[in-house]
Amino acid sequence: MSTQPIEITSPAILANIASTPATFLMCPPKLYDVNYVINPWMAGNVHASSRTRAAEQWQRLYEAVRTIADVQLVEPQPGSPDMVFTANAGLERNGTVAISSFFHPERQGEEPHFRRWFQLAGYTIVDTPRTTPFEGEGDALFSTDGTRLWVGYGPRTDSSSHTPLRKIWNIEVTSLHLIDPRFYHLDTCFAPLAGGYIMYFPEAFDKASRAKIEAFYPSEKRIIVSESDAICFACNAINVARTIILNNISIDLRNQLESRGFNIIEVTLTEFLKAGGAAKCLVMKLSRPEREAASLAS
Ligand code: ARG
Repeated sequence: MSTQPIEITSPAILANIASTPATFLMCPPKLYDVNYVINPWMAGNVHASSRTRAAEQWQRLYEAVRTIADVQLVEPQPGSPDMVFTANAGLERNGTVAISSFFHPERQGEEPHFRRWFQLAGYTIVDTPRTTPFEGEGDALFSTDGTRLWVGYGPRTDSSSHTPLRKIWNIEVTSLHLIDPRFYHLDTCFAPLAGGYIMYFPEAFDKASRAKIEAFYPSEKRIIVSESDAICFACNAINVARTIILNNISIDLRNQLESRGFNIIEVTLTEFLKAGGAAKCLVMKLSRPEREAASLAS
């Protein structure tokens, strides 16, 4: 295997990154807890997480993210212990945010809090219908080249919620069927990476969805994650340019990623695994709202 780092970003992309640094929304875990069971990871873990350890792990993640991006914070709210998983707040692009409609009543109380945050920050809000649940960036990820939106469905997001997304951003939407309850959100088993790579756990998808992934990403761009890494949330990765931030992974996967030119930052996130989330679930990608962009330009 070549040890030569591979050039993964074009000068144009690098210039773009320099002018508009990545921004993520995070929510401090002051009120984080496992209070109910809405995914297999939470079973047996109700009130079993340590808020002190969670705070330390989150702080390390926050500091790691701050090395590659700006971070905005949303205040945690009583009664919404999963609010720390901001990936589920909605999906944002070009100043427009589609606010999530959660499948489980346990998380529906988060919706008005996230909605208010986006409204105050100047984003254009699009509400998604309660009848067709949509769980935001947890289930909807743009390909790194921005040409396509991959949307997971099955455990949480309803496949009928995908059509409005296509209209909002006038973008090609490809639906992927999630069939393993452990990988109940797309971002638990699928990570588009810079350089046109995809890191994923194929067994989480049905045959037709695997074929769609293989049709878009040529085999040399597919990084297949083993089950043992997948259940440590290896695919739940934050990626900005060459850097990937994620929970602890195997040496083998780390070598595979490094040989493709990525810098790996591992942050232990065991307290959040108890609720079924890790690095990527704890952030939501943001671009500037149009109002802010306009005022900066004037
Ligand atoms: N306990 C949360 C839930 O089940 C975890 C959410 C994880 N978020 C994610 N984007 N995968 O909804």
